Amino acid sequence: MDIGEKITALAKRRGFVYPGSEIYGGLAGTWDYGPLGVELKRNLKNEFWKSMVQERSDIVGLDAAIIMSPKVWEASGHLTSFSDPLVECKKCHHRFRADTLISKPGTPNPVACPDCGGELTAPKQFNLMVETYLGVIEGEKLKTYLRGEITQGVHVNFKNILSSTRVKIPFGVAQIGKAFRNEITPGGFTFRSREFEQMELQYYVKPDMKESMKQFEYWKKERMAWYVSLGMKKGNLRFKEHAKDELAHYAKAAFDIEYYAEGEWKEMEGIHHRGDWDVRRHQEFSGEDMTYLDEEAKEKFLPFIIETSGGVDRAALFFLMDAYEEEKTKDGETRTVLHLHPKLAPYKVAVFPLLANKPKLVDVARKIYDDLKKDMMVAWDDRGNIGKRYRAQDEAGTPYCVTVDFDSLESPPAGGDVTVRDRDTMKQERVKIKALGDYLKEKLI
Ligand code: GAP
Repeated sequence: MDIGEKITALAKRRGFVYPGSEIYGGLAGTWDYGPLGVELKRNLKNEFWKSMVQERSDIVGLDAAIIMSPKVWEASGHLTSFSDPLVECKKCHHRFRADTLISKPGTPNPVACPDCGGELTAPKQFNLMVETYLGVIEGEKLKTYLRGEITQGVHVNFKNILSSTRVKIPFGVAQIGKAFRNEITPGGFTFRSREFEQMELQYYVKPDMKESMKQFEYWKKERMAWYVSLGMKKGNLRFKEHAKDELAHYAKAAFDIEYYAEGEWKEMEGIHHRGDWDVRRHQEFSGEDMTYLDEEAKEKFLPFIIETSGGVDRAALFFLMDAYEEEKTKDGETRTVLHLHPKLAPYKVAVFPLLANKPKLVDVARKIYDDLKKDMMVAWDDRGNIGKRYRAQDEAGTPYCVTVDFDSLESPPAGGDVTVRDRDTMKQERVKIKALGDYLKEKLI
């Protein structure tokens, strides 16, 4: 099994990610996050929000609607330019993204159908926007779209944000939310989905190429450092510059942060110089004045935009891959462990009574569990032997396990303590129950 298959299996087994609509045979490109997956994603999004909005004075947050006026998508260029080249096999009629077929090194061009070897049609542009209809009366329904990127909700609110807050250029607007794309070939587990989440920053700067490129470089570094600060291995990360013919319709310059997975570099986040594309187009299409008034310099201008656009699902997937290890233990067994950064781990600690059929042990363990739950996500497990419980928590990425045994029931100084086991080192130490909360908080910061 390669790492992708192992992660897919672990994700299902432990409750990180399930295939969408599974009992009805599934729906391609959709995924449901289980009890552990939802925590991992929430932790990622909280860390993003903390670093972007909470800890900075130049960035504010926004949560715009998923469904917007169809005019937004005309203005943004998504109805004409947001497409992938599609080819179809003349024999089996399977469809493929032409660019992914051609870009494989050593593949002859034109290529044959990867499924049956049949001849492929010439590429046609296929728009990725997902259509939807609003209204109740047939024939009068408004055709619109589920947003293809979360970006436009920010730009249409540029003037609202200026007039309702105290921000001054340079400033940014951060947002996290769902986006939808009718991907031709969803796949690679959650890597290319039709419904996914993005975490973005739109940073408005003066329309000066030199100054804006400084901001571009600054945000490249910041975003790379963010992934590393949450434990991603530097060696698995790199920047890839988009060549002129690869740039999206709105971009003046673009770099991807790529992650090395399954023998390939894969896009995780894009840093884009959008010029004044979005504000200029919305000004043209809406007729609203989108200029910024610089009161000190007494000048009006359409700002340039530096964007950082990350995929929450891709980041979650790559953090799982990065953290995954099959480790040989001293007794010759293999343990599967997720070395997730404590800030990302779904549960910070698991609490076990040594024996489930000893009410006194269960009572003390329950009390510890209830107390810790006020401050952090805590798992409870009283099934099977302790070894099995450790293995289950290792696979869930839980940094610490706490076991209540008969000594825990004794009075201090001899008793009143529990065993705390470290996920990564597997070392165990005795900690007084009274000091446990502070001990864990210190370790988890
Ligand atoms: N606002 C710019 C924008 O949307 P993008 O490069 O198309 O740029 C940004 O998307 C990020 O969104 C990607 O780097 C990726 O992490 C994520 N993403 C894009 N399409 C995706 C898909 N089909 N499934 C999962 N994540 C996706």
